[in-house]
Amino acid sequence: MVSDSIRMLDESTGGTRVSMVMAAIRQRIAGRSLTSGDKLPSIRSFAGTMQVSTSTVVEAYDRLAAEGVIQSRPGSGFYVASQAAALALSEVGPKLDRAIDPFWVSRQSLEARSAELKPGCGWLPPSWLPDDGMRRALRTLSRAAGPALAEYDAPLGLPPLRQLISRRMGERGIEASPDQIMLTESGTQAIDLLCRLLLEPGDTVLVDDPCYFNFHALLRAHRARCISVPYTPAGPDVELFAQALRDHRPRLYITNSAIHNPTGATLSPVTAHRVLKLAEQFGLTIIEDDIFADFEHAVSPRLAAFDGLDRVIHIGSFSKTLSAAARCGFIAARRDWIEGLIDLKIATSLGGGRLSAELVLNLLRDGGYRKHMEALRQRLSRAMGEVTTRLKALGIEPWLEPQAGLFLWCRLPDSIDAADVAREALVENIVLAPGNVFSLAQSATGFLRFNVSQCEDSRVFDVLGRSIARRR
Ligand SMILES: Cc1ncc(COP(=O)(O)O)c(C=O)c1O
Repeated sequence: MVSDSIRMLDESTGGTRVSMVMAAIRQRIAGRSLTSGDKLPSIRSFAGTMQVSTSTVVEAYDRLAAEGVIQSRPGSGFYVASQAAALALSEVGPKLDRAIDPFWVSRQSLEARSAELKPGCGWLPPSWLPDDGMRRALRTLSRAAGPALAEYDAPLGLPPLRQLISRRMGERGIEASPDQIMLTESGTQAIDLLCRLLLEPGDTVLVDDPCYFNFHALLRAHRARCISVPYTPAGPDVELFAQALRDHRPRLYITNSAIHNPTGATLSPVTAHRVLKLAEQFGLTIIEDDIFADFEHAVSPRLAAFDGLDRVIHIGSFSKTLSAAARCGFIAARRDWIEGLIDLKIATSLGGGRLSAELVLNLLRDGGYRKHMEALRQRLSRAMGEVTTRLKALGIEPWLEPQAGLFLWCRLPDSIDAADVAREALVENIVLAPGNVFSLAQSATGFLRFNVSQCEDSRVFDVLGRSIARRR
């Protein structure tokens, strides 16, 4: 009987003996056979009950104490904590009534349970990421000297990683010495720090229409006034871009040059040149968010390369190619701006995520990274072709054929409203990305963004097909 319940616990806790013991205690607390203030069984007796070693129970009790579930009273033993943990509503269903706002896709995707399909999300499935390399890097890191595991990083961030980033930027024609590069915890933090540096509440910021929805969310958080200019397959519409600069004098323009999110478009050299000339004329600063750089098969124009990091600030991160769990990104900018950014980084986070930086450094130095990226680019190309064919069969047309990357920006047939389709798909546990979450002007009602790496399951197409058929 005891060993049966142990086996069941073992399966439900993912197998480690420590987690099994922890789960057994949690079960007793949840079932009220142990209540607030009760003494836990002694380590020796519980080890006997669970048929594990005493050191396993010690470790389990220590972890439960660290979580605040139980408390240690030296010389007396362990007791159930006086404050019961808050109820976790883990089975809450999708929030169908949420407005289609800039948080729609992020909230649905980040909160999605593993059973849900996420063709609307912006990242690769874990199995497409370099799992072996990650584990190798973690093993190497576990043997690192004390400071790497214990101390704050210097404000600019790990020098060898900045050198490596500088070299990699050089391969794209962007000259940035390591002292012009500051590590951040992510691409998102990079933009946040830049907004803190460059914006006052009420300042106007120009974005593409459509653009990555979190630009809208982050700019809202900074109380900025957002305006947008339509994006074409070659970059922003230059006439409207010029008009927006004349009419609104934005302080900042945020964009992706290489693989544009959500359209997958690539900035043309002519558009890049015009945008930079206009930026100079109107005193505009540009943040070039190059987070998808490594997905490119061939290097395309970068504003930061033409401009020499004068009025263009270049940012990146490793979330899409290595791991979104290891939070690590960077800013490359003029030296005088880097000074201000260092102060802001200290003010808002003291030191950077040193462990993540060490991990990313290990991964990038690993000979396997380039091979991983090569294979990934091929795999994405194949997926892009397959998904395009399957979508076209449903009457869903890509706006353009992207040169590389994850995203397909697609128009639904018969002016169908993508928000309706997305809400309906959510009921079937499929997270889609309706066009208007990317569009400040709300001009993308009939569009969906697909992440081709997340479309392997044919249920995605079945649900889309049914939803479209009902609306035609
Ligand atoms: C264009 C773009 N920039 C930045 C980010 C955020 O990346 P990070 O995980 O580095 O914060 C994303 C994530 O999807 C993105 O698509």
